[in-house]
Amino acid sequence: MLKKPTVAVTRKLPTHVEIKMSELYNVKLNKDDKPLIKSELIDLANTVDILVCGVTDVIDSDVIASAGKKLKLVANFGVGVNHIDLEAADRKNILVSNTPDVLTEDTADLALTLILMTARRASEGERIVRKNAWTGWTPTQLMGTRVFGKTLGIIGMGRIGQALAKRAKGFEMKIHYHNRRPCNKKIEDKTGAIYFENLEKMLPTVDFLSINTPFTNETDNIINSSRLDLLKSNCILVNTARGGIVDEDALIHSLKTKTIAGAGLDVYDGEPGVNPGFFQLENVVLLPHLGSATLETREAMGFRVIANIEKFLENNSVVDTVI
Ligand code: 8YV
Repeated sequence: MLKKPTVAVTRKLPTHVEIKMSELYNVKLNKDDKPLIKSELIDLANTVDILVCGVTDVIDSDVIASAGKKLKLVANFGVGVNHIDLEAADRKNILVSNTPDVLTEDTADLALTLILMTARRASEGERIVRKNAWTGWTPTQLMGTRVFGKTLGIIGMGRIGQALAKRAKGFEMKIHYHNRRPCNKKIEDKTGAIYFENLEKMLPTVDFLSINTPFTNETDNIINSSRLDLLKSNCILVNTARGGIVDEDALIHSLKTKTIAGAGLDVYDGEPGVNPGFFQLENVVLLPHLGSATLETREAMGFRVIANIEKFLENNSVVDTVI
């Protein structure tokens, strides 16, 4: 067992988390929070025992290949691990952990925020008021669309999808969902959720479509132009998962030609770059990857990283095994 391992943390984490890590480990913090470039990641991988990374770090096969004999654990701060080459890590016997559960509720809150903001044209209204361009109430200004009682489609009925379904139930929404397999019967009973094995069959039935599935080879661009064409013209799409799940050019085309009503996005293909086609559109709400961004959740994610490291130091396994 490593007594005081060297742990590198690629980004600035909440203060309490950094204090705890500094007590427990020989820690290399990133005080000024500048995103690390590839050569810096390669340097760290080559010199530390444990690497704590996040969504902005591309831990590809080059980074993994450069890992010295010491590196034994990549502890991801976050649940999605599509930025890590898992096969390369596995080949080098490097464990990978993530932080599920602790960000479920806040990410579901953000999906609901996007549903409400887009349906009620909240960003458009805010832009008018902030420009001091509001000329007063009118009976027909910025009419949105009702959320209450509508049908919500959820792609990916895992933890976050289920948490969103519970919230939507409070709005008396009907829930349709697509998943590799039906979820627990209890969840279906609690939310009234109806399973669609076939995504194409579900898409024409929903007023809102929320993406809550991980980004994998199977979900890469799963929402492409032919699937967007299956949505109703009043439909609003929200994405709090990963940008690459949606073909963004196709989405921009659907929003421009109004074959769907709107979109609420928290994630983008190639973050932090955002496809400039979105900027011209009023019917899209654009947030900067805020899904898990509450103090409570970000601290909980940090302490979950520590729990994974502690378990690893104790017996070479982790609480949240990715590989
Ligand atoms: C995190 C996320 O903030 O956990 C995830 O997969 O997308 C975000 O909520 C981010 O990944 C931090 O690394």
